[in-house]
Amino acid sequence: MEVSSDSPQKVCFFDSGIGGLTLLYECAKRLPQTKLYYFADNKNVPYGDLPQDELKKKVERIFSGISALKPAAAVVACNTVTARCIKSLRADYSFPIVGIQPAVKEAMKTGGKCVVFATPATATSSSLKKLIDAYGNAQTEVVACPKFAAFVERNIFNLDEEELINLLPDVTADAVVLGCTHYIYVKKTVEKKYSCPVFTGLEGTANRLMRILGATEGGLQPPNIQNVTFVGGDEEKNRRVFFEVLCGLT
Ligand code: DGL
Repeated sequence: MEVSSDSPQKVCFFDSGIGGLTLLYECAKRLPQTKLYYFADNKNVPYGDLPQDELKKKVERIFSGISALKPAAAVVACNTVTARCIKSLRADYSFPIVGIQPAVKEAMKTGGKCVVFATPATATSSSLKKLIDAYGNAQTEVVACPKFAAFVERNIFNLDEEELINLLPDVTADAVVLGCTHYIYVKKTVEKKYSCPVFTGLEGTANRLMRILGATEGGLQPPNIQNVTFVGGDEEKNRRVFFEVLCGLT
């Protein structure tokens, strides 16, 4: 889709596929006047199973499109890209870049054993290790969930709870951190399986974006759907997931 670069304040979001729509939704409720653009690359999901050089190439291609829009800020709505590429993106671009990260700090308020579910690329990243060194405790555990994001991406309109419960790792936890935005769609099932609080990082990231934009808190409003544009990837699918699954519109 062609997007002109001379409209009002713009914020661009990016994820491999549908996962980041959850963060777009959280931010759209806070920023009804801002033009929001959602960049995706659905045919290349899962990013979390890619080698670093391939991931970087794909991310650079998307970011050159984002940069062409001259956004007020960009939001990496993908834990994998935050963990693996945000440093180099911040070095390459002058606009502010906010990245979602596993909500380890928030989850630690629960105390006890916190388990982080993440893609293989996030699970093995030095950035997650640093986060856990800073905020976790000796019991904090990371579980890589290969193919889980791809499963959610493929079956989003038809997620079967029993199948999901079987796919989720067999661990015990006092708190679970969903370290991949795709997993947020199955938060209720995760709560059911582990019977503990589940953390997504959505609110904290949305609030960080608000602070960076200098936006004033006006409470949560229904997203202004006129201000949301889908760019690249499977635009039709992303639009449907956003409106039907997240906004509850049909
Ligand atoms: N949704 C992304 C994340 O938060 C990546 C999923 C994937 O493509 O592997 O990590």
